[in-house]
Amino acid sequence: MTRHLTTTADLTDDEIEAIFDEANGYLDGQTNQKLRGKLVINIFFENSTRTRSSFEVASKRLGAEALSLDVASSSESKGETMYDTAANLDAMGASAIVIRHKNAGAPKILSKYVKASVINGGDGAHAHPTQALLDLFTLRQAIGDVRGKKILIVGDIRNSRVANSNIKLLTRFGMKVVLAAPPHFLPKRSSIKMVWNIRDELDGASAVMSLRTQTERHERLIYASLSDYAANFKITKEALGDRNIFVMHPGPVHRNVDLEDGALSDPRSLVLRQVHNGVAVRMAILSKFVLGY
Ligand code: CP
Repeated sequence: MTRHLTTTADLTDDEIEAIFDEANGYLDGQTNQKLRGKLVINIFFENSTRTRSSFEVASKRLGAEALSLDVASSSESKGETMYDTAANLDAMGASAIVIRHKNAGAPKILSKYVKASVINGGDGAHAHPTQALLDLFTLRQAIGDVRGKKILIVGDIRNSRVANSNIKLLTRFGMKVVLAAPPHFLPKRSSIKMVWNIRDELDGASAVMSLRTQTERHERLIYASLSDYAANFKITKEALGDRNIFVMHPGPVHRNVDLEDGALSDPRSLVLRQVHNGVAVRMAILSKFVLGY
């Protein structure tokens, strides 16, 4: 039976450990021919720099053919549905389809229409499972055993698929997650601790993960200005102080709104390490889902 990766719940703990073991062998840019003769297709109905490129690089390093559909110039503009677009690419013999879509649940529904393994590259504000997996991998690489360690997630959490996936995955692997944001950016209900400022919670945290303000998902302006938001929630070098704390961000970064320049370039910043690790983790994910082990 073809398996799909729509949320991190599609993987057992043992499968995640196996993905991380395999990814560790790809960190120096190793290549192989595991997926020679296989076709991996990216269909991104929303913009992406990291996820789309990362899957394309990962596919090529495994010897697969990689195609990224240019949705803007595709027949979507002539009224073709997402499902028909995907079914047509599937008919070309795709082994995996990586999809990003503004609608939550689109990858799950799509998986019923195609033979290929569907991998969720981000659906609305719902899930971004490969981002959460690469974040957990990066946290372990930086701090070792994450069980019992605290991570502060800061920003537009309510609209963030990265936050959603990370809250589920990091708590599942034993981390203490605390959410910090103005009230309109926080979930309406959550069993996770939520605070309205970052200062008190930086103490004792092993990492702080800043998120982008998702202005494109706001139906109306719900804060006075980005500079008001930044005044309270931007991660600065001054706020970090001399704490032993790592700084993360899934990208794209709103410089000096989410993260101050100095925090981004600080030696404690893992932001580019997340991107580097993302290729290795996605290589291991593609291997698993294309070869079906
Ligand atoms: N982290 C992330 O999803 O970045 P992109 O939107 O550039 O893919």
